[in-house]
Amino acid sequence: MDFQLTEEQLAVQSAARDFAQTELWAGVIERDEHQKFPAEQIKKMGELGFMGMMVSPEYGGGGMDTVSYVLAMEEISKVDASCSVIMSVNNSLVCWGLEQYGTEEQKRKYLPRLCSGEIIGAFCLSEPEAGSDATMQRTTAEDKGDHYLLNGTKNWITNGSSASVYLVVAQTNPELKHRGINVLIVEKDMPGFVVGLKENKLGIRGSDTHSLMFTDVKVPKENRIGDDGFGFKFAMQVLAGGRIGIAAQALGIASGAFELSLKYSKERKAFGVEISKHQAIQFKLADMATTIDAARLLCLQAAHDKDAHNDYAKSGAMAKLFASKTAMDTAVEAVQIHGGYGFVKEFHVERMMRDAKITQIYEGTSEIQKIVISRELLK
Ligand code: CAA
Ligand code: FAD
Repeated sequence: MDFQLTEEQLAVQSAARDFAQTELWAGVIERDEHQKFPAEQIKKMGELGFMGMMVSPEYGGGGMDTVSYVLAMEEISKVDASCSVIMSVNNSLVCWGLEQYGTEEQKRKYLPRLCSGEIIGAFCLSEPEAGSDATMQRTTAEDKGDHYLLNGTKNWITNGSSASVYLVVAQTNPELKHRGINVLIVEKDMPGFVVGLKENKLGIRGSDTHSLMFTDVKVPKENRIGDDGFGFKFAMQVLAGGRIGIAAQALGIASGAFELSLKYSKERKAFGVEISKHQAIQFKLADMATTIDAARLLCLQAAHDKDAHNDYAKSGAMAKLFASKTAMDTAVEAVQIHGGYGFVKEFHVERMMRDAKITQIYEGTSEIQKIVISRELLK
């Protein structure tokens, strides 16, 4: 077992850290407060190669492994979890899905622009009545010969208004249940496609989350990804990898909150000494560091499984389950260590606490991760 990162992986980690500290840190409070989409920052992330990290260079990507992706996601998430969710959806759901299962034409048409940050992608599975129970798709893609007629509503879509390309999951043959579902590439300017209002969220407020409405949208047959009926399998495969990205996001939020807490505990004095001299604070730091290291190992294990072409549904779900709890617990304790200062925006940890919560909900709630893990165990 080799716990050493390669030179390339260390270089990616260091580049992501530098970028996050120099380009994301300064405006992160303002973006959160005003729900401002980080358009400029995402463009730069594209230029630096963070938007299509695992895509082959042949299609404009970085050709990197999943371990490098996890390292970069952690560093970006330490500072701005809104930027990292945009990055995660683009990388592990949209780009990875297109590269693995798209036709040559689809890959050439979309991947170079998605990787460079010129355009952003969105992944559209959830609906008002189909969240965890994702097979219950109400959106329909009626087969009309040379095209599909798309009708329905998607909910909670990350990059909802900022994306140009949407991978939309829809039911074509209800009698076949989940085996009758397709996934279609929808472009923003297709007639009948309307972006709904932006959600006013607890956390990751810089990212834009919208409902999407489709009314008789004509989607050409060549925009279907994979064979007829492959859509649900596509969603599950893509999400198995996506969960590694969200686990790394949660890990980053936890490490960011921990680093701030460690520093603060050595500066703030109470009862004549730095608060880090009080055992109650030391024990909080010890718990934080231990769970963060465990979460990092789970993330790297899952990333390694994906890179080694091992089955990674279970390890990815374990990483997400554990890292998201670590993010939540660590961020709550980080606020506690900061006392009253933790409750105001300037000290960042209150934002981290709000951002942490979503990692236990999207890309499968913690309860859904337990279903995935236990099904794998009982197979
Ligand atoms: N890879 C390939 N196929 C898979 C799979 C995997 N990892 N997991 C399941 N499948 C297949 C099964 O084999 C089955 O197909 P067959 O019948 O043809 O064999 C099919 O999927 C249905 O599987 P189940 O019978 O297990 O389905 P289920 O109804 O019991 O639900 C579930 C399974 C795991 C709960 C699934 O519905 C699920 O993952 N729900 C959570 C949805 C989710 O994660 N949404 C995230 C939206 S994206 C997002 O959130 C982005 C963001 O925030 C940034
Ligand atoms: P529900 O499925 O209604 O679940 C409610 C509660 O019941 C949860 O606690 C859940 O764990 C529990 N529960 C449900 N079923 C079971 C069960 N069988 N056993 C035990 N407990 C159960 N979706 C996309 O498709 N694309 C996106 O880009 C996207 N981005 C998102 C961004 C944000 C900010 C948010 C909030 C959501 C996003 N989602 C996205 C949707 C997200 O994936 C869903 O919210 C999530 O899957 C849960 O679905 P739900 O909200 O319908 O909750």
